[in-house]
Amino acid sequence: MRRILVTSALPYANGPLHIGHVLEAVQTDIWVRFQRLAGHECLYVCADDTHGTPIMLKAQADGVTAEELIAGVGAEHRATYRDFLIHHDTFHSTHSAENRELTERIFRVLDGAGYIARRTIHQAYDAKAEMFLPDRYVKGTCPVCGTKDQYGDSCENCGATYTPADLIDPVSVVSGTRPIERESEHLFFTLAKFEAMLREWTRSGAIDGSVANKLDEWFKTGLRDWDISRDAPYFGFEIPGHPGKFFYVWLDAPVGYMAASLKLARDRGLDWDAWWGLGSTAELYHFIGKDILYFHTLFWPAVLTGAGFRRPTAVHAHGFLTVNGQKMSKSRGTFINGRHYLERLPPEPLRYYFAAKLAPGIDDIDMSLEDFVSRFNSDVVGKLVNIASRCAGFIVRGGGRLAAALPDPALYAEFAAARTRIAACYDGRDFGAAIREIAALADRANQYIDGHKPWNLAKDPARAADVLAVCTEGINLFRALMLYLAPVLPAMAENAARFLGRPFGHWDDAATPLLGTALEPYVPLATRLDPKLVATLFAPEGVASAAPVAPPEPAAKAPPPPAPAAATVAPAAEISIEEFGRLDLRVARIAAAELVEGADKLLKLTVDLGGETRTVFAGIRSAYAPEQLLGRHVVVVANLKARKMRFGLSEGMVLAASDGAGGLFLVAPDAGAAPGARVK
Ligand code: MSP
Ligand code: ZN
Repeated sequence: MRRILVTSALPYANGPLHIGHVLEAVQTDIWVRFQRLAGHECLYVCADDTHGTPIMLKAQADGVTAEELIAGVGAEHRATYRDFLIHHDTFHSTHSAENRELTERIFRVLDGAGYIARRTIHQAYDAKAEMFLPDRYVKGTCPVCGTKDQYGDSCENCGATYTPADLIDPVSVVSGTRPIERESEHLFFTLAKFEAMLREWTRSGAIDGSVANKLDEWFKTGLRDWDISRDAPYFGFEIPGHPGKFFYVWLDAPVGYMAASLKLARDRGLDWDAWWGLGSTAELYHFIGKDILYFHTLFWPAVLTGAGFRRPTAVHAHGFLTVNGQKMSKSRGTFINGRHYLERLPPEPLRYYFAAKLAPGIDDIDMSLEDFVSRFNSDVVGKLVNIASRCAGFIVRGGGRLAAALPDPALYAEFAAARTRIAACYDGRDFGAAIREIAALADRANQYIDGHKPWNLAKDPARAADVLAVCTEGINLFRALMLYLAPVLPAMAENAARFLGRPFGHWDDAATPLLGTALEPYVPLATRLDPKLVATLFAPEGVASAAPVAPPEPAAKAPPPPAPAAATVAPAAEISIEEFGRLDLRVARIAAAELVEGADKLLKLTVDLGGETRTVFAGIRSAYAPEQLLGRHVVVVANLKARKMRFGLSEGMVLAASDGAGGLFLVAPDAGAAPGARVK
């Protein structure tokens, strides 16, 4: 068993997550879920990156404290990750006691060992706002080509790099006044002292080949000392012994990886040193985007080394997500917010699509909306789910039990043997190759069923045993494929496991077929993506995406998100307890959910009230996809007079909270409440 600690880059806490962030989280989550299924101990931590000037200024602009801003964003980030089925063992914050403790400790060791230098620098200063200005907060005319309105570090037109002092007619973005130059003493981390170590570490297998070339360039240019301090006002940790000076956000951000795992270790009573200590035998991986390689492959291993900790086993960088061939951009309308996506579509199609597109290396990844729809609909619904749905019915009719033997054990053996190759693809982050293998096997499974035509055999009662045999083979091929996709489609795999009557416990479960066991009733595992709905991913960020997101856990210290103006709900007239008592509210389990042709607000639900099932038409389609609902417990008004609707009879009502701004939230009982239980 390998012991593995994994991180994704810490998203900035100054705004919502977009699907580029989601790409990274999905990549990491799939890898982690695969390692667990393969029997390894694999823990996944992340946190919000909460410090720095942009967050300080954003809080000021919003009229809240920085702490309030990051608490609200933190709750929103957690909810978005959760809804994309990202399973963090801990999602922490860099503005935490653990991070302060570790950052201070690391600074003291580095300082004591002579790795911190003091140097006076000249920097742009906004006398009106009384603050030093980061390069990006000064704008002016490019001194090289004369283009107006360029940032203080580089020109978008000619690519020249310079300092804010070089700009012609510079202005502060904060106050609009002309910055002056001011001097200040800063603390520097002596990166150059680690050059020999870094050259060796980068060749130790810690970095993919394509990235190593980039590092060679950086070594050639020479490693410069790194400015790790910032002057007040700054939202961050004050440097011990240096009043008015704060750690630069990029110093304490990667320490956030350690802090999140320290929180995890303290919560679960685990040994933190076994991950981070010099003698650690655990593996440590950072998944990041290619834009932050410099920080993770030079500064971070050097800081760890200087402070007496182990270095990462590897840093895995991915490319950038583009949409329909374009950079995600708000002005072009190609920017897709995570929440905006979730309000329209379920998470698993996107996880599947990202998996299909991901490979090791830093090539950019393009999401074409058309390709997205056809991949999911054809691979997952058309091929994979089709195997199960075609076979399940025949097995139910044949007594509900799988046959005692496979009619084609050789075919199954091929599927089982593929697990070694597919495992290697997952482990090597070549998810695209894993998906191609699985899709090819799904084609073979469908060919097998088409070749044996159980629907024809079933016409002849004398061939009932053959029907059962063919479908037992089909269900077992499906089961192997679903297991191989479990890291990518965890909710679907869970539903499939329920139907198969056996959880997916281990990757090697595919080695042995399921024979002679009973199947649970089949529930549809996935529905087709509607291209019309997918097209609305590009719709302007409207009312729906502005709706507040409920904090995920009551324990989160986040204040409730501000209610949008439209959300005021008028109080209803008073009723007596007797009147209330006339309501028959029951816990119900959603046994089936489907779209209603011709009604774009409705879902048709089959709810189980503990023995009795009812059909209910619920106007919740804008907030929930049918497959998200399967198995969920809800509250139903059971004695509501049945209503005849255009689509059929609605025999009750499902309770949901509505915020008046388009947000809809199903009301659910606490875990453990059984279907049929009276709610009062
Ligand atoms: N806060 C820093 C990371 C600190 S790690 C100690 C940061 N935050 S970020 O919010 O800008 O980005 C977080 C991660 O998302 C980074 O790995 C970044 O590369 C990734 N992505 C941001 N936009 C992306 C795409 N369009 N596509 C893929 N990944 C993207 O950087
Ligand atoms: Zn220029």
